[in-house]
Amino acid sequence: MKINEKRLLHDLRHLRSITATPGRGVTRLTYSREDQEARNYITSIAKAFHFNIRVDGIGNILIAPPASRARVLTGSHIDTVIHGGWLDGAYGVISALEVLRTFAENDYPHDAALIIFAEEEGTNFGSTMTGSKFLTGKYGDAQRTTLCDSQGRSLSMLAQEAGLDPAENILPLTGAELMIELHIEQGPVLEENGCDLGIVDTIFGQTTIRVTMEGLGNHAGASPMQYRKDALMAACEGILAAEKAVASDPYHRAVMTVGRINASPDCSNVIPEEVIFTLEVRDSDTERMQQYIDEIEVLLQKAAKHRRVGCRIDPIASSAAIPMTPSVVSSMDRLAREKQLAYRIMNSGAVHDTAMMADIMGTGMIFVPSASGRSHVPQEDTAEEQLIAGANFLLDVLREKAGR
Ligand code: GLV
Ligand code: MN
Ligand code: MN
Repeated sequence: MKINEKRLLHDLRHLRSITATPGRGVTRLTYSREDQEARNYITSIAKAFHFNIRVDGIGNILIAPPASRARVLTGSHIDTVIHGGWLDGAYGVISALEVLRTFAENDYPHDAALIIFAEEEGTNFGSTMTGSKFLTGKYGDAQRTTLCDSQGRSLSMLAQEAGLDPAENILPLTGAELMIELHIEQGPVLEENGCDLGIVDTIFGQTTIRVTMEGLGNHAGASPMQYRKDALMAACEGILAAEKAVASDPYHRAVMTVGRINASPDCSNVIPEEVIFTLEVRDSDTERMQQYIDEIEVLLQKAAKHRRVGCRIDPIASSAAIPMTPSVVSSMDRLAREKQLAYRIMNSGAVHDTAMMADIMGTGMIFVPSASGRSHVPQEDTAEEQLIAGANFLLDVLREKAGR
């Protein structure tokens, strides 16, 4: 049994066309008009196949063929970063949908179901894997109102505006035993090593903080350098010190990013009074990640003191490094060897909802290569043959794990 290649590529290309930034990558934020259009596209396909569809108040979707007991979940997310690529998330969702369609057309009895996690990227609220955090009890009612976007709109508000019923219970996943996610690698390892497939053994941990430097706004010409309390210069000094600390990681695993920074009043001839930025650290070792965060907080305070500005640090989100279930990794390893695929077992530097699912069920992840190792940018791509091979491998894994 093989998936329908044309249908897979057609649906992926269709999702690529649903973007708020045509010609400048895929921008499809959870709860946006584009997100609703993509959801409708997928659910209309599911309806045509008479699959059952359930949607919760956060926007997580579960799609199960009528005879399936949804014992094995497979899927990913359809939201993106701003000006992102066409495959991050969408590939795992459309491939899973394609496998379910192939099973249906072949009258293949199974217990698999498609899960689509809401707000994986954290583009709205700065907190990644939001849908799966709700599904696994890490987030509860409080976060529906405390998670707010940059304009102060809460998750509840956005969900309601998107036509979801925020009071709707979180999807019950009783009976689900295993989560298998197919995804693009988003880094260079598979391509550099001539592999078509990766089997993930650990998903990195990620901690994100919000830093506010509070200085003194003043005239950019009339304020001599020695009198200034420049919030942006304090941020620069602190960020560079943090980078130096993480870049010296002896294991070459830890990474640090300041992906969002705002200076106000954001005016060329005014000394920045306030600077707010996010800073995240990731590592395959949770304890080491936390040590870097602790060290960085000290370095940021030191830079603020040196520049005579205030510094406040607020936690945004944190998730531990998560190993995939060893028996799942070894059975995928055996299957890839039997199929004579060029593959390797590897870590995931990116985070994925599957990591959140790990405390309530078994987990496994499959990667396909990312061209030039690029992702979260419009250039994100994977060769068609590799997309097809990855989806067929997912089908084989699901036959083994979910077939009856
Ligand atoms: C999600 O894509 C992440 O790893 O930031
Ligand atoms: Mn993703
Ligand atoms: Mn992503």
